[in-house]
This record gives sequence, C-alpha cells and structure tokens, in this order.
Amino acid sequence: MRIHVLLAPAGPLPGGSGVTAVVVDVLRATSTLTAALANGAARVIEAATVDEGFAVRDRNPGSLLCGERDGRIVAGFDLGNSPFEYPRERVAGRTLVFASTNGSQALRLAAGAKRRVLAAFVNLAAVAERVRGAREIAIVCAGKLGRFALEDAACAGLLVRRLRAHGGEPHGAAAALAERIAPSDPGSVRALVEGAAHALYLRSLGAEFARDVAFCARLDAIDQAFEV
Ligand code: MLT
Repeated sequence: MRIHVLLAPAGPLPGGSGVTAVVVDVLRATSTLTAALANGAARVIEAATVDEGFAVRDRNPGSLLCGERDGRIVAGFDLGNSPFEYPRERVAGRTLVFASTNGSQALRLAAGAKRRVLAAFVNLAAVAERVRGAREIAIVCAGKLGRFALEDAACAGLLVRRLRAHGGEPHGAAAALAERIAPSDPGSVRALVEGAAHALYLRSLGAEFARDVAFCARLDAIDQAFEV
C-alpha cells in the first residue's frame, strides 16, 4: 500500500485512476461533515464557490446549503461550519451542499479518485479501518488558502503511521514529513490542534467557535468513516 500526501489541495491527484483519496480538513470541514454524516445526513456535494453553492442547492430541491467564509456562515446559507449545527433532527436524510473556503477545494481535487473518504482526528481510527485494503492512497490536506496547515499535515501523518500496521508505506517527501510531525496520543493531538493558527483565529470569533476547536481536537471520538 503506497501512501501519498498532498500538503495543500494543488496539482494532480497522485496515485493513478484507482486511487483512494482521503480528504483532511481538521478545522473544521471534515470534522463537521463526519459529525453530520454520523447524524444521518444522506450525501455531500461540494461547491467550490458561494455562487456555485446557491446554484447546486437550486438544482437539488430539499438540500441544505452549508459552509463558511472567514469562518462565519454565509448570508443565505442554511448552516455554517460548526459540528454543533448538524444534529440528527436537522440533517438526517438531507443532502448537504457544502461550500467552505478550503475543505471544498480539497474535496473537489479528490473528486477524480475512485473513492473519496473524509478524515479528521475525530474519526482517524475508523478511517484507517476503512482504507486498509487500498493499494494506492492519496491523502489530500485542505490547508489554508492553498498553503500548509500544521493540523492537517499532522493528521495525515498520524494516518500514515497507523496504516503502517496494515502494510502502508509513505511515498514521497511530503508523506515522510507528515509522519515525522504526527502527534501520537490524545493529549498531544489536543495541544497541536488547539495551538494551530486557524484555531487561534476561530477562538477570536467567540465561545461557540472555541467549542468547535475543542470538538475537532478529540482523537477517535467518532467510530465511523464516510465516503462521499
Ligand atoms: C474550511 O473549509 O476552510 C474550513 O473548514 C474553514 C473553517 O471552518 O473555519
């Protein structure tokens, strides 16, 4: 099993046409979408722009338009990007049209893969179980505005490390680097996520956003992994 890592959602998806893509946006897109799907959301359609989001919602009657800009809900959207906005009574059976700044770009880049799996620290053990049989894996980090984000690279690295137990081999410098910076226990995961640049920004927006950061920093809190 070869494991490629993209530290930001740019360039071709490595691994070929049969690749299993794993999309990582710890703060907060893939943490939130995993919580939403665990609460029964039916499917996720990514939108690269706000306008595309409105258009996709119009084409999918009954769908919910979700996402953020600068961390805050966009005017006219149904839901923002907090995992606490996606309880079962709100999202069960619904299609989520998802337009976030970075997570949606990573989802779009991974759209060409054979399989597309959502990963974050909250469900990492479940992700490793779900992809353990794949021959080629490409972990796509959402990053921030096309650039490196420590929390995503570290999450990718911990997945690389966990997949070693299933015969996984990091392929390329980015995968090796990610594995080297990966935290190993719940405490160091929490410290890393809480200390991330985007966590500081989110906390500056208020108490609910600080609660989101704490949610995203919990290792293996959700025992499910979803393909979208
Ligand atoms: C994103 O997709 O850009 C992030 O999840 C942004 C955020 O929620 O703060």
